[in-house]
Amino acid sequence: MILLVTGGAGFIGSNFILYWLKKYPEDKIINLDKLTYAGNLDNLKSIEKNPNHLFIKGDICNRDLVNSLIKNNKVNTVVHFAAESHVDRSILDPAPFIKTNIEGTYVLLEAAVKNKVAKFHHISTDEVFGTLELNSKEKFNEKTPYDPRSPYSASKAASDHLVRAYHITFGLPITISNCSNNFGPFQFPEKVIALAITNIIEDKKVPVYGDGLYVRDWLYVTDHCRAIDLILKKGISGETYFVGGLTRDISNLDVIKIIIKLMGKDESFVQFVKDRPGHDRRYAIDWRKIKNELGWSPKHDFDQGLKLTVEWYKKNLAWWKKLKNAKFQDYYQLQYA
Ligand code: NAD
Ligand code: TYD
Repeated sequence: MILLVTGGAGFIGSNFILYWLKKYPEDKIINLDKLTYAGNLDNLKSIEKNPNHLFIKGDICNRDLVNSLIKNNKVNTVVHFAAESHVDRSILDPAPFIKTNIEGTYVLLEAAVKNKVAKFHHISTDEVFGTLELNSKEKFNEKTPYDPRSPYSASKAASDHLVRAYHITFGLPITISNCSNNFGPFQFPEKVIALAITNIIEDKKVPVYGDGLYVRDWLYVTDHCRAIDLILKKGISGETYFVGGLTRDISNLDVIKIIIKLMGKDESFVQFVKDRPGHDRRYAIDWRKIKNELGWSPKHDFDQGLKLTVEWYKKNLAWWKKLKNAKFQDYYQLQYA
């Protein structure tokens, strides 16, 4: 296969590329990434000499670039990760979310139709479905109506709709995965698990929004990569697959407490801070479709994945210390002051 991977220098995209080239060393990957604050070529150091990984620094909104990359490299598969991905930043400034997530997806879709790519896989999120009640048994499934509530999730919802429309109107062979919250190696330390681990190593407190009783469905990142692999190999064109991890609800506060315990510290590291506006209370994913139809289930449970993640951040101090630079401190001030 010849793949165009967008956003391949980000958290999930880089994990995906490392996973893919290990499993399918004969495939070729063109990795188009703008290297925003979240893009990091250090993630891909282990494959920098691999001739089957071609990194291109560029913007998915650049029509000519996207079109020529697909055409000149005879790309047959697009795997689209590139996005602005952090809810809090979308509240501080929605503009880049609208541009990259909506317009960027549109540019890719146009180029994919024009060049008749065989497969377009769009990576999306469970956040486009809004929020569930705390303590309910309800989960999101493939029939749940869209109900995005933040600029991030609204922009991702718009991109999902465009992808579906290009399938129906122009016959583009697409698949979509809506996945729950990922965690694991190479996650930028603004997201809560990476932030908690790195703050504790730095002897700083961990900010917990509101009452901390918010619930996310957590999935170890390589399990997400395995799901995308199965969808690319066996997924049905036009279909959406939900990908999730946890089978039990766990609050943010409990997640932080587990991390604190794993790291041998006490609960004085918890710092309750002002809540996020429009904060979705609970996410939970019913992933029976991908299990029954494609045979996927997560290999890591939450506690296992968390242990691996804590170990990784402890071993890779240089990787994340570079990211918590002056620019990050400005963001941190703005967000948490
Ligand atoms: P990330 O922020 O770590 O990485 C995004 C990457 O996209 C970065 O490398 C960035 O440089 C690149 N990028 C941003 N704008 C670009 C542009 N205009 N052109 C080219 N490249 C650009 O994000 P992530 O956590 O790896 O998420 C990847 C995808 O998965 C996103 O589409 C996100 O919505 C989705 N997703 C994420 C999660 C999660 O928990 N992180 C869960 C479900 C779905
Ligand atoms: P986050 O990692 O930002 O992912 P998302 O908002 O996409 O789910 O946040 C996960 C949960 O943790 C969410 O309920 C918000 C909460 N949170 C905190 O309590 N403190 C923080 O500093 C951050 C970044 C998030």
